[in-house]
This record gives sequence, structure tokens and C-alpha cells, in this order.
Amino acid sequence: MDIQEEIAGLKKRRNAVILAHNYCRGEVQDVADYTGDSLELARRATQVDADVILFCGVYFMAETAAILNPSRTVLIPDPTAGCPMADMINAEQLRAMKREHPGAVAVCYVNSTAEVKAECDICVTSGNAERVMATIPRGREILFVPDQHLGGHISGQEGRTYVLWPGYCPTHARLTPKMIADARAAHPGAPVMVHPECAKDVRDAADERLSTGGMCRFARESSAKSILVGTEKGILHRLRKENPDKEFFPVSDSLVCPNMKKSTLENVRDALRDLKHVVKVDPAVAERAKRAIDAMLAVK
Ligand code: 13P
Ligand code: SF4
Repeated sequence: MDIQEEIAGLKKRRNAVILAHNYCRGEVQDVADYTGDSLELARRATQVDADVILFCGVYFMAETAAILNPSRTVLIPDPTAGCPMADMINAEQLRAMKREHPGAVAVCYVNSTAEVKAECDICVTSGNAERVMATIPRGREILFVPDQHLGGHISGQEGRTYVLWPGYCPTHARLTPKMIADARAAHPGAPVMVHPECAKDVRDAADERLSTGGMCRFARESSAKSILVGTEKGILHRLRKENPDKEFFPVSDSLVCPNMKKSTLENVRDALRDLKHVVKVDPAVAERAKRAIDAMLAVK
């Protein structure tokens, strides 16, 4: 029996679903029931009818699934798969920020810990940030944590005042405008899509600024036959699989998130076999964090 068959058998035995982020290894995406961006996976986590959710991605994503599903068992194949950006602010730092800005609305990117979400009024993802921010009354000051670049991207479009926490994604920080210029020279006419976690000069040098789910939609709908991809390389697997008539080129081969690569077929199998590693969130923290996540999910 090969490992894919072993995983399929264990999934049935455990009545489990496997959710995988678009940056996961291709072979992990291929055994998943559903692959998506942070927003799509959070929504999917509210709709599953299974006893066990095995979340392949980084810890904050599995934690979000656990907060949304207190009665189900949520597992992560490797509990050390963190998101360095999410760890760039803690709850006490956010509380201090709130004390300095009384009356402000606290908004967190979903790439944040449960403790930070618990301090916030609402969450956003890169897939819904504009829509969610449009629901916040103008005239209120906005505290945006932890990603200065996603925050800068939205505030640039909205023209209102944001106080941005200086967090960033170390993987997207590797992308430069020169890399985009070189990729354009190598593939003339190909549109360039980047993630809004990229710095402003990189976002400005691109044609599209999209969540990973947005990139999958753009790839499907675009008439372009070649597309340049400025985000973590794992997404190329899905883009190529879903669009065999199109070509996708990474803007840079250096965009690899080591934490997203920590889910492997072996630890997916082991997680289902041994029901490990269970993702647990302190119920008091979970209850407050859920309010911020639910407020986000209520925005259609
Ligand atoms: P998406 O929500 O666009 O998939 O982004 C998640 C992420 O961690 C990007 O680095
Ligand atoms: Fe975090 Fe960046 Fe990895 Fe996304 S790509 S999980 S933001 S470190």
C-alpha cells in the first residue's frame, strides 16, 4: 500500500477532513479534501461535517479552525510550523498600543495569535481586507497589526489614517522590484501578480495584488497564457494543475516559507494514525478571539 492509500484509509477510519493551504507541498495538496487561502480555509472550517480536521499549513490557521470548531478535534502535522509574522506582536504589546490610542478600532490580520485576535474588534485576511474595512465607520482611528504591508496596501487605497504595527513576512520580504523587472524582461507581456504582504515598491511594480485565492481566480479568468507569480512557490503546483493550458513562472525561486513545508505525507499519515498534534486554545481566549473572527466572516 502506498502512503496516499494509507492516508485515505486513515481519513475514513478517523472521519477526518484534510484542509491544506495553497503554499503546502504539492503532494500534500493532492491528498487534501480542500486547498485554499486563509479566508477560504477559515470558511471551510465552519462547514465541515467530520470528527477530525487535519490542518496542513501554519499554526495560526489551525488555531483559527480550532476556535471555530470547539467540539471537533483539530490536528496539525507539525506543531512547530509557526508564522514568524504572527509572532511579531503579542497581546501585551497590542494592549499597550490600544492604551495609547483610546477609541481606536483594533484590526488584526488573520496571521496573528489567538491571544492577539482576542484583543481585536475584527480580523481581516488578504482576501477580504478591503470589504471588511469598508464596514468600519470612517472617522475612527484604525490600529492594524501585525503586517505593515497589508495595512499599507489597504490604507493606501482608503486614504484614512492607520497606525501600522511594523511586522512583515520574511518570505515576501525577499522580493524586490529588480526581480520583477528581470522576470518581465524574461517573459515579455506576462502579467505579474504579487501578494499584498510584499513591500510597497514591489506592490507598485506588479500588475495585480492578490490573496493566494485571488491569484487562483485571476489565473483561471485571465486570457494571458503566461503569468508571473510573486508569492510563495507552493502555489505554482495548484496554478499549473488547474490551468494546464497556461504557463506560470515564479518571479523569484527564493520565495519559500519553510514553515509551510513542514507538512509532509509522512507526518500527515502519522497525525491521522496517532491523532496528534491536537491544537488547543484556552477557552477564555478562544471565546474572545472567535468574536473577531466571526465579525470578519459575517462580511460577505
Ligand atoms: P492568503 O490568505 O492569501 O493565502 O495568505 C496567507 C499567507 O500566509 C500569505 O503569506
Ligand atoms: Fe507567515 Fe509569510 Fe509563511 Fe505566510 S508566507 S505563513 S506570512 S511567514
